[in-house]
Amino acid sequence: MKKNQWRAISLLIIASVVVVLSCTKHQAAQYVGTCDPNVIYFNKDILPLLNSNCAMSGCHDAKEAAAGYNFTYYYGVMSAVSAGNPTGSKLYTSLLSSDRRRMPKNAEPLSSSQMEIIYNWIAQGAKNQTCDDNGSCDTSNIKYSTTISTIIANNCAGCHSNSGAQQSGGGVILTDYNNLIAQVANGKLMGDINFASGHNPMPKNGSQLSSCDRNKIQQWINRNYPNN
Ligand code: HEC
Repeated sequence: MKKNQWRAISLLIIASVVVVLSCTKHQAAQYVGTCDPNVIYFNKDILPLLNSNCAMSGCHDAKEAAAGYNFTYYYGVMSAVSAGNPTGSKLYTSLLSSDRRRMPKNAEPLSSSQMEIIYNWIAQGAKNQTCDDNGSCDTSNIKYSTTISTIIANNCAGCHSNSGAQQSGGGVILTDYNNLIAQVANGKLMGDINFASGHNPMPKNGSQLSSCDRNKIQQWINRNYPNN
């Protein structure tokens, strides 16, 4: 082959590598195997919090994208994040009471443990990773006060709390025991989170709870949903 043919071929190769690399940047989450309890995962830990507290209709959803932020997908979230630098990330600093426009707007602040989840995810590099619990779902010590209320707080409360409910949860409150069990007793809660036909899939506009979380709620219900 002539010298300029070689040059053309190598240019072509370089160009395809560049194309492939820039595409992978926008690819779906990277699957990393078994979940590490010390790592925060975007799909499992971050997106449900944002879906419930920030991405409701009229706020940072795809349609409204208030202040230019669409928090319904990874790259939208990253526009408010400086990876590795939580205190330089709007996503984190706007949650602090010191922020003039503390978020979520007109609603209860996130709890300190929820803020910590967001802080740690950014500090760990704000990666778009998913993991698998490999069937290791611990259903041994399920309590309302720890297990169940935390699942609700992290996936549902932004729409279904006292302050959020009027705006985005259809008036349904799930953040205290009595209101929650009313939705258990009428059969709607399990049908909704299992995306059963004839039900409203919950979390609304979000992805389904993990089978482990649904399993925990089911086990608690099977034990007559104690207020423990
Ligand atoms: C983005 C807001 C939003 C999130 C997050 C959300 N919901 Fe809802 N939920 C609604 C709205 C709105 C309704 C009223 C019915 C409708 O419009 O679908 C509702 C209704 C319900 C109802 C009443 C029965 C029914 O289907 O109408 C239950 C039970 C419920 N949600 C459970 C949950 C649970 C459990 C979660 C968390 C795993 C959750 N929701 C997360 C917005 C939300």
